[in-house]
Amino acid sequence: MKVLITGSSGGIGSAAAQRFLSLGHEVCGIDIRPAPFSHPAYTHFTADVKDAASLPEIGSVGIIFNNAGTQNSDDDIGNNLKGAINVTEKYMSSPDLVSVLFNASASAVSGQEFPVYTASKAGLLGYMKNTAIRLAPRKVTVNAISLGGVYTPLNDPVVNDPECWEAIMKVTPLKKWMTVDEVADWVVFLTTVNRSMSGQNVLIDNGEYELNPTFVWK
Ligand SMILES: NC(=O)c1ccc[n+]([C@@H]2O[C@H](COP(=O)([O-])OP(=O)(O)OC[C@H]3O[C@@H](n4cnc5c(N)ncnc54)[C@H](O)[C@@H]3O)[C@@H](O)[C@H]2O)c1
Repeated sequence: MKVLITGSSGGIGSAAAQRFLSLGHEVCGIDIRPAPFSHPAYTHFTADVKDAASLPEIGSVGIIFNNAGTQNSDDDIGNNLKGAINVTEKYMSSPDLVSVLFNASASAVSGQEFPVYTASKAGLLGYMKNTAIRLAPRKVTVNAISLGGVYTPLNDPVVNDPECWEAIMKVTPLKKWMTVDEVADWVVFLTTVNRSMSGQNVLIDNGEYELNPTFVWK
C-alpha cells in the first residue's frame, strides 16, 4: 500500500516512514526539509504543506498520516491546520484510500501549552471529525492521535535540563515520555489494523490529563 507521510524529515515522521517501509509498504514523504534517509521504496518531495499548489502528484494513496507541524513558530495555524487540510483535500479522493490519521496534540484536549499551537491542534480535531463523516460511506477510517511528551530532538532542551525534567515528571503519572518507535506502533495500528474506529481522538500522554491527582484536602 502507498503511504503518504507529511513532516517525514522530523522525529516522528521519519520513524513512522521507516516503520511502514520495514513492513513492506511504499512511502511518499513531504517535508520542507530534505529526506532524512534513503530507501528504494521511499520517495521524498520537498514541499510546503501550507502551499496547496506545491503539493506533488503522487497517484493513489492508501494511507495519509498528517504529521507535519511546528510549535510556537510564526505560523502554527498555517503549518499545522491549513497544511493538513490542504493535504487531505488533495489526496482524499484516492480510490485506494483506507485511512487518514492526524497528529494533533495533548494540548488540543487540555488547552495547555502555546496559545496558537493549541488552537491549531484543536482545530485539527474538528476537521478530523468532518473528514471522518465525509469518508465514512467509503469505509475509510479517520482518526487523530494526541500525544503528550515524545523524546525527539525538538524536546532536548527540556529533557536535558535536570530541574525542568524533574518538574515535568512530577506531573506525569507514568513517569516517562514516549519514544518515536512507540508512536510508530500507534500509527501503524490505527491506520492498518483498525477498521472499525473512526472520528476519534486518541489521547496518549502517559496519564497526564486523566490521572493527574488534583484533590486537595486540609
Ligand atoms: N515531539 C512531541 O513531543 C510532540 C507532542 C505532541 C505532538 N507532536 C506533533 O507531532 C508532529 C511531529 O513532531 P516532531 O516531534 O517529529 O517534530 P519535528 O520538528 O522533528 O518534525 C516536524 C517536521 O514537520 C516539517 N514541517 C513543518 N512545517 C512544515 C510545512 N509547512 N510543510 C512541510 N513540512 C513541514 C518539519 O520540517 C519537520 O521535519 C508535529 O505535528 C507535532 O506538533 C509532537
